[in-house]
Amino acid sequence: MRVLIIGSGGREHALAWSMAKSHRVTQVFVAPGNGGTDTEPKCRNIPIEVTDVDALVHFAEENGIDLTVVGPEAALMAGVVDAFEAAHLACFGPTKAAAILEGSKAFTKDFLKKYHIPTADYEVFTNTTEAKSYAQKHGVPLVIKADGLAAGKGVILAFDLPTAYQAIDDMLENQCFGKAGNQIVIESFLQGEELSFIAMVDGKTIVPLASAQDHKARDNGDQGPNTGGMGAYSPAPLLDQALLDTIMTEVMTPTVAGMAKEGRPFKGFLYAGLMIAPDRSIKVLEFNCRFGDPETQPILMRLQSDFAILVQAACYDQLGDLTLEWDPRSAVGVVLAAKGYPEAYDKGQAITLPVQADDAQKIFHAGTVRTLDNTVISSGGRILCACALGETLSTAQQAAYDLMQRIHCEDTFYRTDIGHKGIARITQK
Ligand code: AMP
Ligand code: GLY
Repeated sequence: MRVLIIGSGGREHALAWSMAKSHRVTQVFVAPGNGGTDTEPKCRNIPIEVTDVDALVHFAEENGIDLTVVGPEAALMAGVVDAFEAAHLACFGPTKAAAILEGSKAFTKDFLKKYHIPTADYEVFTNTTEAKSYAQKHGVPLVIKADGLAAGKGVILAFDLPTAYQAIDDMLENQCFGKAGNQIVIESFLQGEELSFIAMVDGKTIVPLASAQDHKARDNGDQGPNTGGMGAYSPAPLLDQALLDTIMTEVMTPTVAGMAKEGRPFKGFLYAGLMIAPDRSIKVLEFNCRFGDPETQPILMRLQSDFAILVQAACYDQLGDLTLEWDPRSAVGVVLAAKGYPEAYDKGQAITLPVQADDAQKIFHAGTVRTLDNTVISSGGRILCACALGETLSTAQQAAYDLMQRIHCEDTFYRTDIGHKGIARITQK
């Protein structure tokens, strides 16, 4: 089987690595890939951007690609899956019509309300005066969200009214998020602990993947600005069988059935960002129509089933016939980021990487490129993710940090407490 992975982040490195482990896979192409994907066995980078739909289809046709997996949301919203399906090429991901679950927060909130799926109270606005008047009446804390894709930056938590007004102005008046902010959602602030619930969906059948939690805030103790994710771990001690059953019944099943009813059948990775309240009630914060980054890295470290077979089955509506095998050990992934991230940062720093001792450790590259003289240099805000398996979450955490300490790159930083939420929960028990 010849596989194409679309994307260039840490998630795509993990997807390519996992695909390449399958005995059925002979070659994996990554478009455009990064400094890590091109050194994996069987893997090769190809210089095509993720939204260059015609070039991707052409490459797949010319190179006999049997299976394509789309990583990032931008490619989904550009209609990659639609174009592959039109060309009769197997491609795992939602069509543009279904990817609206991530592409428009206003659509999603209205969808959740229509199908009685729990979420925070909200209103949608295009008018600044009306939005501010609602914010004032509702009172703080409030959450202001740009409707469209904003690279994880379009959500402002407002604990005072001036911050709320500023966010409303920035989105609706100052076009800080471009068209993505022409419409905004204002919703109630929810207390609780976040959980990333990710499943593979073939249009009908929903197969949950191993549980995971990420740390979105930049600084230790979950402080500082939101990022794409500074680290993640799997499994999440927060998710027990009862909670999993509730999430399937209250969120996943009605969402997949509702999307089919709306004429937008969902196929792909469906990622529900959930807030779990202290009383264990759940509310949907958002949907992503893709695998999480960095959740993918620790989750796929634990996958023992053949990933290529799984994705192929999902493409051909046969997920119902499969069960997934997971490594019982825990996995922790810690992100190394460029100084300044998630704001402006420098690129081009040389990275020294250790030789990996065993299969229980893995460095997944994200914002890296390999130069002609084979040096790896930084090229993004999130540079790489140091992952490790351990018998417990604590030993996995220790092993991930041991690995990170052997990586050298100037002007970078990482959080030193990835996994603390899970470890605290286990200790409490
Ligand atoms: P979203 O992209 O909608 O998931 O929002 C990004 C992040 O903002 C989430 O992961 C949460 O940490 C936070 N967030 C979003 N909505 C809420 C809410 N209603 N209450 C509290 N925190 C929220
Ligand atoms: N880790 C959060 C995301 O993938 O959106």
